[in-house]
Amino acid sequence: MNNRAQWGTRLGFILAACGSAIGLGNIWRFPATAYESGGGAFFIPYLIALLTAGIPLLIMEFSLGHKFRGSAPLTFSRMNKKAEWLGWWAVFVSFVISTYYGAIIAWAIMYAYFSFGQKWGTDTETFLYDFLGVSQVEAGQTGVFVPEVLIPILIVWAVVLFVLYKGVRKGIELANRIFIPTLAVIFLIIVIRAVTLDGAGAGLDAFFSPDFSRIWEGEVWVAAYGQIFFSLSIAFAIMITYSSYLDKKSDITGNAFIVGFGNSSFELLAGIGVFSALGYLATQMGEPVSEVVAGGVGLAFVIFPLIINEFPGMNGLFGFLFFASLVLAGMSSLISIVETYVAGFSEKFNISRSKAVIFGGGLAMLVSLIFATQGGLNFLDTADYFINQFGVAFIGLVEVIMIAWFLRKLGNIQEHANSVSSIKLGGWWKVSLGIITPLILGYMMFDLFKVNLL
Ligand code: PFF
Ligand code: NA
Repeated sequence: MNNRAQWGTRLGFILAACGSAIGLGNIWRFPATAYESGGGAFFIPYLIALLTAGIPLLIMEFSLGHKFRGSAPLTFSRMNKKAEWLGWWAVFVSFVISTYYGAIIAWAIMYAYFSFGQKWGTDTETFLYDFLGVSQVEAGQTGVFVPEVLIPILIVWAVVLFVLYKGVRKGIELANRIFIPTLAVIFLIIVIRAVTLDGAGAGLDAFFSPDFSRIWEGEVWVAAYGQIFFSLSIAFAIMITYSSYLDKKSDITGNAFIVGFGNSSFELLAGIGVFSALGYLATQMGEPVSEVVAGGVGLAFVIFPLIINEFPGMNGLFGFLFFASLVLAGMSSLISIVETYVAGFSEKFNISRSKAVIFGGGLAMLVSLIFATQGGLNFLDTADYFINQFGVAFIGLVEVIMIAWFLRKLGNIQEHANSVSSIKLGGWWKVSLGIITPLILGYMMFDLFKVNLL
């Protein structure tokens, strides 16, 4: 255990944790979610979710990884033998997510290239379906791989596996030291340009104008907690793994606050940029902003190409920058997800990092190739739906209930965090994790099962 890999510096760890947190969830998930859940009023449940679940859980996961110095399965089993399965469950969910996250990054790479000359034309939706091969399926054809997707997926995996093969400091940390500052600069350029576009005000108005009546809806709280969980990469085994590489003397709680607020700041910035651009598009089309709002695949690969078509000057460059930011944000998250099972396998089976990269990463790469087939988009929708609905919050719920109520470990974890941190945790932390978070997540689960099964 003495020769466990370590981050080179505190900043290196913070950049890597922010790299994991800041991803597609910030750029294409948050803006539409906030808009649909009360606009400006959404910030109330969102902030409460950040303070009662996001940051407290981040502190817990940082503290666990730091104390037990293992990937998620090993950390949980060191805490209590009976808890190891929870780590493997989180690792499994991460494995599934990584297979389709890689595919989306591959599409973004191709779209960064398509930006020059706007190869998607004016009917961007049809173009997307053609590009992904979906329309061939509809036409009754059944080829298998779509080469335009297959090749970039292989490139994405080659980069990720190479980074992980290089290890914690020379691989993960170095990659994030390059990716995250670059991402910040690119994104700032995009947002500054976006807010100065014609119609940006209308977009921001749509985004921020609050509908306070929505605050009384359970769904809005579910959306807020769901967003925080996904966005902060909590309950995915990632943050435990990353914090297991921290130095003995590390400011656990301080780091959690920096990562939590850093991720949310980026999210807010993305909301501003995306809605300014949507406002511009709506103005150009002479439509209300509500007509062009989208999230996810639709926002990035259908609506944004339209915005770039209309862009007043340097279309190619701005399109490229937008898709490059998706690629950078996505890559740094993908690296972190794959590291969970690379670390998990190498510890469990006592094999070297390089072998774990080849077997674990190689397996994920093979599985991810199903997203390079003509059915890829359908698989992606299904996988994403189930992971978001049943994977994320469910693991979070089981994790807090087990630690707080069955194993009664909150006290130990708090003591450990306080022994190394500048900010000391008090009652707020225990109440958040022991009571508020389980109640809200429990309600979420109840709600989901009601909708899906009854
Ligand atoms: N936190 C990332 C985002 O907001 O896009 C998403 C993510 C990364 C989710 C890694 C899960 C994960 F394992
Ligand atoms: Na995020």
